[in-house]
Amino acid sequence: MIDTIAVIDFGSQYAQLIVRRIREAQVFAELFPWDTPGDRVMAVKPKGFVLSGGPGSVYDANAPEIPGYLFESSLPILGICYGMQAITHSLGGEVARAVKREYGSADLTLLKPSILLRADDDPQVWMSHGDRIDSLPEGFSVLAKTYNSPIAAMGDEYRAYYGLQFHPEVRHTPSGELLIKRFVFDVCGCKPGWTPQSIIEESVDAIRKEVGSGKVLSAVSGGVDSSVATALVQKALGDQLTAVFVETGLMRKDEGFWVEKVFGENLNCHFIKLDSKEVFFSNLKGVTAPEEKRRIIGETFIRLFESTALTLGEPKFLVQGTIYPDVIESRAPERSSAHRIKTHHNVGGLPERMNFDLVEPLRYLFKDEVRKVGEALGLPKELIWRQPFPGPGLAVRCLGEVSLPRIEKLRQADAIFTEELAKANLLTFSEDDQGIETGTAQAFAVLLPVKAVGVMGDQRTYQEVIALRAVTTHDFMTADWARLPNELLARVSSRIVNEVQGVNRVVYDITSKPPGTIEWE
Ligand code: XMP
Repeated sequence: MIDTIAVIDFGSQYAQLIVRRIREAQVFAELFPWDTPGDRVMAVKPKGFVLSGGPGSVYDANAPEIPGYLFESSLPILGICYGMQAITHSLGGEVARAVKREYGSADLTLLKPSILLRADDDPQVWMSHGDRIDSLPEGFSVLAKTYNSPIAAMGDEYRAYYGLQFHPEVRHTPSGELLIKRFVFDVCGCKPGWTPQSIIEESVDAIRKEVGSGKVLSAVSGGVDSSVATALVQKALGDQLTAVFVETGLMRKDEGFWVEKVFGENLNCHFIKLDSKEVFFSNLKGVTAPEEKRRIIGETFIRLFESTALTLGEPKFLVQGTIYPDVIESRAPERSSAHRIKTHHNVGGLPERMNFDLVEPLRYLFKDEVRKVGEALGLPKELIWRQPFPGPGLAVRCLGEVSLPRIEKLRQADAIFTEELAKANLLTFSEDDQGIETGTAQAFAVLLPVKAVGVMGDQRTYQEVIALRAVTTHDFMTADWARLPNELLARVSSRIVNEVQGVNRVVYDITSKPPGTIEWE
């Protein structure tokens, strides 16, 4: 059994970060909205609780409160920011209403060393709060202060209740990671055990319990989530699984190659490849409106999938690559891996009447954990580290009509851009502690529906235009255009114009999101 910490969410923008920090210490953490029924939270057998911050004040009407079962459990509690104020309010201390918010770095002065805070910790901490603690609840002592917060950390060591006004989960608190580890290991007594290997073992057990001897279908698209989910199910169920790969003709270069190599050759599972290029191109003929393209692709996919399922004895279960951020966003963090289908994120929409039960083995994993599990399962790095790719594929990057020659042009240009970025180590995205960003979170080529005049070897040309799009982003909700080196852009432009027939001009998109979107359609 892997040790678990329950993180109670009071609405902080940093709540997911708390979960991530605990998991980085190899202890499982799960996020629960503060009003989740106690029996659901206690079912994960937590060894302690962390209470997140939140946007409100404990004095607001309908302010979130600490649920009674937390105190009844006698387990250790660490309250962060609002979480600390909620502990204070619940246990009879005084929370002072904010006159002014405190936001940014502060210097922590240690008043009483404890299991959580030690003299040699970095004093820099990150504050982001309105209200603050004015007087302690009974049994607590002040552990540390800052200039603006006379009670910046408090503790009742007997009951193992702690409160921090600052945020240990953000990188701007350099000792924060250590502090979270001390709470998890020294206060709660957790043992590290949340590793890719243990995740695989737990998932395999859960999938076997869930599915029994039923047949399972999985649609593999070449994306990391569907690939890792399918590989996990294959490990659990072997030949009960059939992986279906629909070759739409709208994939990136080598996408089909990796899918076939992994699922058709290496993983030894039933693998079906549907070569459906013709039907996709025929259905898309003459269509230029972006939403219409999406609708047609979704529909075509559905019909193919339905008829395939019929030939496979109508499997009852469908593998879905839902990951934890999707679950948190839809506020459904219950521990269960099979639900009636409602929407389908990965393959572009499946019909509700299919009535599959879903198997979602990545339901509790963040993207980086999915990748680590994928590596531990032996999937190739080229597949694991691919950038996200939209369900409708190259069709929404081929502005105007989608035809085989135009898609080929686009695919070639895209491959050149990707290849040059990879050579320059810019195909992944990272941000250091100083906020300096490197690389690209998503980078691709777009074929524009315009022609431009050019000159090549004394000849006039009148050909199509490729736009390069490269963005930096953590969540894909907002994005900035990547400041790529000029020399790299020059090399990519020159290669595309020389190597891709029918393209005589390359432009670079310098629009952030908003107001632009990442994709052009
Ligand atoms: P936008 O263009 O909305 O894209 O800024 C945000 C992220 O979503 C991806 N995207 C899609 N993914 N089906 C998908 O599975 C789609 O129809 C779709 N449209 C956009 C896009 O690639 C980016 O990562």
